[in-house]
Amino acid sequence: MIGRLNHVAIVVPNLAAARLMYHEVLGAEVSEIVALPAHGVSIVFVDLPNARIELLHPLGEDSPVAAFLERNAAGGMHHVCYEVADIAAARDNLVAQGLRILGDGEPHLGAHDKPVLFLHPKDLHGTLVEIEQA
Ligand code: CO
Repeated sequence: MIGRLNHVAIVVPNLAAARLMYHEVLGAEVSEIVALPAHGVSIVFVDLPNARIELLHPLGEDSPVAAFLERNAAGGMHHVCYEVADIAAARDNLVAQGLRILGDGEPHLGAHDKPVLFLHPKDLHGTLVEIEQA
């Protein structure tokens, strides 16, 4: 059911420094810092040939990654995102197999303005998984 790996999200304590690391040291193509206040994050998109890395930093009061950064002061991997063809069908299939959807269970527009859902990390080996309708 899941398709391509869309992105891996990494929360970082210093977005400008992380951007420079990926660009200058690792030699990757990186975006400018993009503020997404509706999502409570600032992002740098790192374009790899086969997927993207998203460097995330909390933005605003209710950021979904603020608590993560408090627990992981040096930063760390936050989630992976897999593409699905039909997010409602994918959700129904996963729920029927016992997986839990975070939040209200309804798809929301994610950072790419495509419908996304997050699956409970305790159901997936301690990894927060996002699915995105490609
Ligand atoms: Co994501």
